[in-house]
Amino acid sequence: MKIAIDGPAGAGKSTVAKKVADQLGYLYVDTGAMYRALTWKALQANVDISSGEALLRLLNQCNLELKVESGTLKVMLNNQDITAEIRTRDVTNLVSEVASHQQVREAMVQLQKEMAAKGNVVMDGRDIGTHVIPDAEVKIYLTASIEERARRRYEELLTKGHKASLREIKQEIRDRDRKDKNRETAPLKKAADAVTVDTTGLSIDEVVNRILKIVYQNSKQG
Ligand code: DC
Repeated sequence: MKIAIDGPAGAGKSTVAKKVADQLGYLYVDTGAMYRALTWKALQANVDISSGEALLRLLNQCNLELKVESGTLKVMLNNQDITAEIRTRDVTNLVSEVASHQQVREAMVQLQKEMAAKGNVVMDGRDIGTHVIPDAEVKIYLTASIEERARRRYEELLTKGHKASLREIKQEIRDRDRKDKNRETAPLKKAADAVTVDTTGLSIDEVVNRILKIVYQNSKQG
């Protein structure tokens, strides 16, 4: 079975999608991590992120791997572990621009389709149910109020020992949502056949259980 989880920034997609994949024994693919990895590499290599062509050239030189090791997702680029590096604020604030280029998206979607073709998969992102695996049996649109999404990100940053301002984070999330929803190629959009799950006020386990219930209902019908 293929499960697509899409939604705006900070709705808890990665955490929830990984847990759902663990419970089902499915492959987990965090597509946001792929765009983040390319953004990190572009910053390292001083590549102009306004050029889709330059970014595609860079991507073609990269060996990008997603591995789940002892329950956590590891992002490897040319054999270097960049799991922590791709979550920095710099990368977070530039990734939407990198992901807006058609050349970049075409190459990433190709890689993602190949991963999905391997079998049972949970894939999270922005265009998974609409473009990457439109034939997914289960499509979830995961969302939460902007206040809750900002508060979660804020608390996550504080836990990691970073300084943060709730007001600034809220603005950054708003900006990223605006860019992701308004880009020309494959913008963030709920697929017509997706089920909306609003995670405002719900714990991670409650969200995971809600999604698993949808998966089980679907497999009974199928
Ligand atoms: O889910 P995330 O916050 O790690 O995603 C980072 C960015 O990558 C997000 O702002 C938009 C982009 N993205 C995308 O355009 N398409 C995807 N399938 C996944 C992420």
